[in-house]
Amino acid sequence: MNAVRLESLSTLNYRNLAPCTLRFGAGVTGVFGENGAGKTNLLEAAYLALTGQTDVTRLEQLVQSGEQEAYVRADLESGGSLSVQEVGLGRGRRQLKVDGVRVRAGDLPRGSAVWIRPEDSELVFGSPSVRRAYLDSLLSRLSARYGQQLTRYERTVSQRNAALRGGEEWAMSVWDDALVGLGGEIMKFRRRALTRLGELASESNAALGSRKALELTLLESTTPETYAADLAARRGEEVSRGSTVTGPHRDDLTLTLGGLSAGEYASRGEGRTVALALRRAELELLAERFGEQPVLLIDDFSAELDPGRRAFLLELAAGVPQAIVTGTERPPGAALHYRAQAGRFTPADAPASELDGLTALPLEVHI
Ligand SMILES: Nc1ncnc2c1ncn2[C@@H]1O[C@H](COP(=O)(O)OP(=O)(O)O)[C@@H](O)[C@H]1O
Ligand SMILES: [Mg+2]
Repeated sequence: MNAVRLESLSTLNYRNLAPCTLRFGAGVTGVFGENGAGKTNLLEAAYLALTGQTDVTRLEQLVQSGEQEAYVRADLESGGSLSVQEVGLGRGRRQLKVDGVRVRAGDLPRGSAVWIRPEDSELVFGSPSVRRAYLDSLLSRLSARYGQQLTRYERTVSQRNAALRGGEEWAMSVWDDALVGLGGEIMKFRRRALTRLGELASESNAALGSRKALELTLLESTTPETYAADLAARRGEEVSRGSTVTGPHRDDLTLTLGGLSAGEYASRGEGRTVALALRRAELELLAERFGEQPVLLIDDFSAELDPGRRAFLLELAAGVPQAIVTGTERPPGAALHYRAQAGRFTPADAPASELDGLTALPLEVHI
């Protein structure tokens, strides 16, 4: 299978990272160093440059304190051709370019990276909004149309909420029509995608040694068929609350392990296994969809103390065409290691003569 390949990553004014260009080879690249060195920031920058996505809501957080703008750049190979993806950040804005041409987030290749991190346990133990965000982010990558319809739907919900609060009940039939059309499409797409996602996640959960069956189901607040009637029936409640109480923005992705809700009953360890299964399912689904293996980013493998899950993470990294694995200790099996120290990354094993060309290139911000 083809693979996306990150040739190099450049950053400028990104969080605590010193301006740098790091090269990556095929196979596993290990990045190790103390807490606070910037390992997570490096993977976050790589994910941003590869996908245009960040889950940080205040983009200013990504800009080095004291600076106005930040910049990340990925030189990558995808579908057999080389391209340069740039992301400029500043004053709440995000600007994307591919090969020097401005693009929108939806125009970037959508299957280029998967990021696995310790916080993924939140997928199991966090609120429904965390699981919705996982599902929506994944489905938006599988289908550009899903992403567009979701954006429209979310905008409609907030406009409708404003109308509810403003006492504009007369306008509801228009908002309801829009909501039913967009919401119905979103629900149907989620149902279709969940079948394959559920299969892949339960296979992964079993491969991780879990003896309990993992099942993914949607807990829907309404259905495409009954959405209009459900909205009408709850109009009074919505007017008094000033918000839209039914629709796919209220749905949950429920995870059951051995028939019990994982969020409520699973042990911490079982929960981590389930979260890892969800990420591996994401990796496989993107590879299936785009016919190309994403770059795998694994943050802090050393935070995983369970030997079974640790081995699974390392095997996963070793089994894909390209992975970047961070840890406080050296990730085993890496072809190349960088040592992270106070926002700087230096090749750990290369003789000094080979360091030339790996040090920082002069960069300019192109926002
Ligand atoms: N916008 C920012 N400007 C400067 N430093 C930042 C910014 N955001 C985070 N940091 C610093 O980055 C460091 C955390 O880096 P991180 O990548 O999480 O480390 P780790 O190697 O443990 O994964 C912290 O010391 C934090 O203060
Ligand atoms: Mg970290």
